Amino acid sequence: CSDAKPVTVPEIRAAKGERKLCMVTAYDYPSARIADQAGVDMILVGDSLAMVVLGQQDTLGVTMEDMLHHTLAASRGRSRALLVGDMPFLSYQADVAEAVRNAGRFLAQGRANAVKLEGGKAYAPHVAAMVGAGIPVVGHVGLTPQYFNTLGGFKTQGRSAASARAMLEDAKALEEAGAFAMVLEAVPEETAALITRELTIPTIGIGAGNVTDGQVLVLHDLLGLFDRFVPKFVKQYAQIGPAMVDALQSYCDEVRSGAFPAPEHTFRLPPEERDKLA
Ligand code: KIV
Ligand code: NA
Repeated sequence: CSDAKPVTVPEIRAAKGERKLCMVTAYDYPSARIADQAGVDMILVGDSLAMVVLGQQDTLGVTMEDMLHHTLAASRGRSRALLVGDMPFLSYQADVAEAVRNAGRFLAQGRANAVKLEGGKAYAPHVAAMVGAGIPVVGHVGLTPQYFNTLGGFKTQGRSAASARAMLEDAKALEEAGAFAMVLEAVPEETAALITRELTIPTIGIGAGNVTDGQVLVLHDLLGLFDRFVPKFVKQYAQIGPAMVDALQSYCDEVRSGAFPAPEHTFRLPPEERDKLA
């Protein structure tokens, strides 16, 4: 993997209609390394960090400092995948200038290649300013978890023809502002199909059916490392959490029985030094 060419923003754009894009979250050096070795196209340091790594109840409390700390760690673990930093709550909403500065910090201090932000056409000016500053942007419409208080919970979005069309308008405004890809979260397949058909940039679905140009999942969900709840749209490809508990139980059992450490894990004095100690 280390000699593979890094994935670029133009390559992600050009993938539309050619090949499906594979994206996954990662939040630190080992997880980014694993994702990169698996050959994903894009790694997202998601603000889902708040929930799956920091144990918070929602994503609202995660800070720029938290995100930059983890983005920089993840950047050290990947060599090929495009690294996208997720703009946390209140890092971009207040005004365009602050949004550009914070987005820039993801590239300059987090060593990301791009940022992602939640929200519709109200953020087109923010996206345009970021792109103008040389910061590639991924949009995110549908269920936008930073807005759960406004949305009334974590609900599927775009469930009527009218709301599907409104979501399409949002997505188009972000595309026109210069976004190079669009996450669609928790929307009916028909809504995702409409947006995927109408946009010229790739759509990346999570809970958006099989019609999008790519997929994204939270690493801890797909590996079975997060057991608080499993959304309907998650497929668990492994049960790493229980496997880790098993391994640690074996370790504790062997410590308590004295089976670990064995001679092969143990340093010894040379015989002549051992004799002097006797
Ligand atoms: O924070 C996150 O993990 C995300 C993905 C689910 C798209 O935004
Ligand atoms: Na997110």
